Amino acid sequence: MAASVSRRDFARLFAVGGSAALFTDPVWAREYGQANGSSAAIGGTGEAFWKSVRAQFVMPPDLGVLNAANLCPASRPVLEALKRESDSVDRDPSAQNRARLGGEKENLRKTLAAFLRVTPEEIVITRNTSEANNMVSSGLDLKAGDEVIVFQDNHPSNLTAWNEKAKRFGFTVVTIPQVNPHPGMEYYLDAYRKAITSKTRILTFTHLSSSVGDLFPAKELCALARQRGVMSLVDGAQSFGLLDVNLADMSPDFYTGSAHKWPCGARECGVLYINTRQHKNIWPSIYSAYPGAVGISQTFESFGQRDEATMIAFREALEFQTKVGRPAIEKRSRDLANQLIAGLSRLPDVKVWTSPNPALNAAVVSFQPGALNAQKLGALLYQNDKIGTAGRGGGDRGGLRASPHFYNTPEEIERLVGAVAKYLRSGA
Ligand SMILES: Cc1ncc(COP(=O)(O)O)c(C=O)c1O
Repeated sequence: MAASVSRRDFARLFAVGGSAALFTDPVWAREYGQANGSSAAIGGTGEAFWKSVRAQFVMPPDLGVLNAANLCPASRPVLEALKRESDSVDRDPSAQNRARLGGEKENLRKTLAAFLRVTPEEIVITRNTSEANNMVSSGLDLKAGDEVIVFQDNHPSNLTAWNEKAKRFGFTVVTIPQVNPHPGMEYYLDAYRKAITSKTRILTFTHLSSSVGDLFPAKELCALARQRGVMSLVDGAQSFGLLDVNLADMSPDFYTGSAHKWPCGARECGVLYINTRQHKNIWPSIYSAYPGAVGISQTFESFGQRDEATMIAFREALEFQTKVGRPAIEKRSRDLANQLIAGLSRLPDVKVWTSPNPALNAAVVSFQPGALNAQKLGALLYQNDKIGTAGRGGGDRGGLRASPHFYNTPEEIERLVGAVAKYLRSGA
């Protein structure tokens, strides 16, 4: 669904975000010219368009970092907003200047709500996904006799957290085993369906796994939970800012995400969505000053002093993505990942852990590079080929992970595939 882009939006980006590059780039100017006055996002799709998007990031053109699942770079408008607003507070830390920023937290809340297609009353601005996940597992009134269903391949903030809290509060954790390769959406739906009992209070899973990029049937699992009178927590660390997420449609009870991953926002900001139907069922984990102004944030978000500059930058990042076009961003990232899967699959000896089915994967690709030492290969790729990947240690689907986003290019994907082939030949 395309969001509205008006001449005023772009003027604001220019004047406030200060990114002259957005306007001087001829492709942006042409695409904007076409979008001007319509209700569409800029909406470019060709390589020239994506090249101009890449130019909005400060990464050198020859550095191909394919590590969005861990940390994304912020775009120029985001960096400019962050610097401008941080400088302002340090130049003039008076109550009067700080008060000028007072409304920014609520502005971010409104933008987040629009981005996720929910209401500002349901949005809590957190530090990151880890904090948000833990606010759910600490905030629900769970006790002995209650059951929580978790996916085995969840991040520690949504796995270790439940196991540790079970020791304290007495509830039981039921684990859904991970199967590789992705056995299909129906398999996991069925596994959760069978695991639900009269004692189950909440089910949780990661929308897109950070290990090998398994996509989960989020809408169907949330519907199953609702039908069975069970709550649902969707860990969106790997979907927020990548997929064109629509929480109104998915209807989870809780959804979490980080600014510094796929949204390309400032570091240390995140979101916890709490569906209105659960506002009366969750306790705040922190009591302090400076709560939010609306809905659940009035009782749940008294986190003391915050950094408004980070929040302004986060909002800028969400607006940047909206202008580029969220469906276009999702398609671009997923196309790059599938290009990578196809390229790696042609290399003898490489074992790709990620499903080649485009309906079951989304921009996170993991593979074992034959007999090569993955850690050493990752270092060689960075030093010699200027490609950034992430290592996946341990015996569980180990190797390397590459997670391309909309600022990456098909050439970088080919460079990675070519380099892996080269090192496989040389045995390095
Ligand atoms: C699925 C998942 N959940 C939660 C997190 C934690 O995110 P953060 O470190 O931003 O809190 C991650 C980080 O990689 C993740 O992949």
